Amino acid sequence: MPMRLWQVRRHWDLFARTDPLWAVLTTPGKEGNRWAVGEFFAVGQQETDAALAVILARLPDLGRRRALDFGCGVGRVTQALAGHFDHVTGVDLSAAMLDHARRHNRHGDRVDYRHNSAADLACFATGTFDLVFSVLTLQHVAPEYSRRYIADFIRVCASGGAVYFQITSRPVRPPHRSWYPPTLLKNAWRRLNAYLAFRPAMEMHSLPRADVEAVVRSAGGEIVLVDDGHGSGQDFESCVYLVRKP
Ligand SMILES: C[S@@+](CC[C@H](N)C(=O)[O-])C[C@H]1O[C@@H](n2cnc3c(N)ncnc32)[C@H](O)[C@@H]1O
Repeated sequence: MPMRLWQVRRHWDLFARTDPLWAVLTTPGKEGNRWAVGEFFAVGQQETDAALAVILARLPDLGRRRALDFGCGVGRVTQALAGHFDHVTGVDLSAAMLDHARRHNRHGDRVDYRHNSAADLACFATGTFDLVFSVLTLQHVAPEYSRRYIADFIRVCASGGAVYFQITSRPVRPPHRSWYPPTLLKNAWRRLNAYLAFRPAMEMHSLPRADVEAVVRSAGGEIVLVDDGHGSGQDFESCVYLVRKP
């Protein structure tokens, strides 16, 4: 069984209490609280500015009032988005991650952080945000949840607004292996290893591109761009989707 949301939340709370920056960016050499805070947020700024350049090249008339960062963690991307939007909301299911995010906030009340442990975004009204943004988050929840969140990204997006999100689309077999364990088995293995080491676990899930596109279309979104060049580690193919809400 994949983790239920309450379990995902418990594990991310534990990551937040032990090694929060590495849990967000698992860069080799940075485990054990070795990220320098300035360097960590600078990476977020670079990545977010690059994503915004892609979005604005396709959708130059995008409104700049309100943005949502779904699965904001410690606010790495939320803070960067505040350089482009009047107001940014970061939402996360881990209250402990949000404690870090609030401590790192440099934009006063132009940024707010909201806790949401529900399997949807019912806490936000329809049509609220000019941009809904999410990276490195949907890949950690089972497809039954990611489908629902993607549909809700489009619901909470304003008409004429954009949704930009990343999700892993399929596991990739490493060249030296003749088979790849099914996701359920691989995640059970991750959880067992973490349990034996008294550490939290990070499950990985994927949603095939055709499924994502079907969810987007049935929620009323128009796909503007799909970029499959975003590997998530060596083990997964990962896609970035840019969607416009008519
Ligand atoms: C790898 S971190 C990425 C943080 C941020 N997006 C970034 O790139 O800096 C994943 C974050 O997603 C959050 N998360 C996982 N499942 C979530 C859910 N169902 N709803 C909201 N946040 C979730 C975790 O608590 C964690 O803070």
